[in-house]
Amino acid sequence: MIEPTLEYAQQKDREDKLSSFRSRFYFPRSKATLHNAAPNPHAAPGADAIYFCGNSLGLQPRQTADYMQQELKDWQDIAIDGYWHAHNPWMTYPQSLRPALSRIVGSLEDEVTVMNALTVNLHLLLLTFYRPTSTRYKILMEAGAFPSDQYALETQVKFHGAPGDSIIEIGPREGEKTIREEDILQIIDQHKDSLALVLLGGINYYTGQLFDMAAITAATHKAGAIAGFDLAHAVGNAPLRLHDWNVDFAVWCSYKYLNGGPGAAGGAFVHERYARNKDLIRLGGWWGNDEASRFKMEKGFVPKPTAEGWSMSTAQVFNMVSLRSSLALFEEAGIENLQAKSRELTGYLFQLLKSLNNLDFEILTPAEPHRRGAQLSLYFKAQAKAIHQKIIDAGVVVDYREPGVVRVAPAPLYNSFEDVHRFYHILESL
Ligand SMILES: Cc1ncc(COP(=O)(O)O)c(C=O)c1O
Repeated sequence: MIEPTLEYAQQKDREDKLSSFRSRFYFPRSKATLHNAAPNPHAAPGADAIYFCGNSLGLQPRQTADYMQQELKDWQDIAIDGYWHAHNPWMTYPQSLRPALSRIVGSLEDEVTVMNALTVNLHLLLLTFYRPTSTRYKILMEAGAFPSDQYALETQVKFHGAPGDSIIEIGPREGEKTIREEDILQIIDQHKDSLALVLLGGINYYTGQLFDMAAITAATHKAGAIAGFDLAHAVGNAPLRLHDWNVDFAVWCSYKYLNGGPGAAGGAFVHERYARNKDLIRLGGWWGNDEASRFKMEKGFVPKPTAEGWSMSTAQVFNMVSLRSSLALFEEAGIENLQAKSRELTGYLFQLLKSLNNLDFEILTPAEPHRRGAQLSLYFKAQAKAIHQKIIDAGVVVDYREPGVVRVAPAPLYNSFEDVHRFYHILESL
């Protein structure tokens, strides 16, 4: 039975087998103002902030500096030989990230790779997976999807000269805040003769709603279309079984729950039934070419029979070092343990927030744990920005998304039940 007391939260932290991971991260300093009256020891200016912004930018693991130093040192000491003889050879750097990543996204190792950034990868994979014809050309996406996805799909449609009615948007019903899964399945069926692609966020960035990717993929395939997902908010957060769900392709960034640092290289999943098919249309570059012939400098692109067959350029080692460091922590903690803690932590936050009656807000994120990840989206009908500022002033880092939403995301690797309790106490005293 959940209790709204600090003692309860501290007891939960003592029972938490993952609690020691918190000390392996750097926390930013609190921006709390001196005149702040919030009853929160963290609120003192200069103390650690309560950081609930891992859905935007994950924290830096303390060991990342050593990982970075190792690459700098190898570059200093052996220069070009680092491609083959660095402690983590640069030639196969992306491959070394695949075991941990494949456990996180639920795939075969050959089905994942790390390259470029999310939107770039989305475009590259769309060149393979969105091949509109005169009859089958429509794309189903969320209304109000993350802008970069909207721009990517809008420009892909233009690039192909596809008709003006190519994009179908699905949103919540009138008066509702999240999208009903039955509506997604129904609209897929309704457009089954003209649908080419379904592209949804695994978790919607604004509401925090987690979609049933298995059911959506099955319905999409039944309609004869391709199912792709933007997993920016799901990777390292929600349980994923991309291979078993038969998802066709997916892309993600590494700077949110994966703690890969700002602008870290993004990730991509291509189901093996495509990854192994060297005949698929794509844009090629030497890093996607079969390793045996990569350095023969000959004519004729031979794609690798893995997700890496969509890579183009030399591995961006320094954009992957922080990710490598963070993935080592994921391996140590175990993704399933993290997800179990996440369900408890966010469930605790949900219940405490529900008990508040001094503020007028609505939790947009679904109440059912299997329909969300770590993030809860709090919608304030009035004065949302002012309230967000007060929360920041009290020493908490949370972000704000128009219109009216404060997103709060306790990350199980470094957040505690005490963090959640203190946040609740701050809101209670606003
Ligand atoms: C859901 C979603 N999609 C796409 C992007 C864009 O990612 P990138 O800037 O790495 O291309 C973001 C960035 O935060 C995002 O949250």
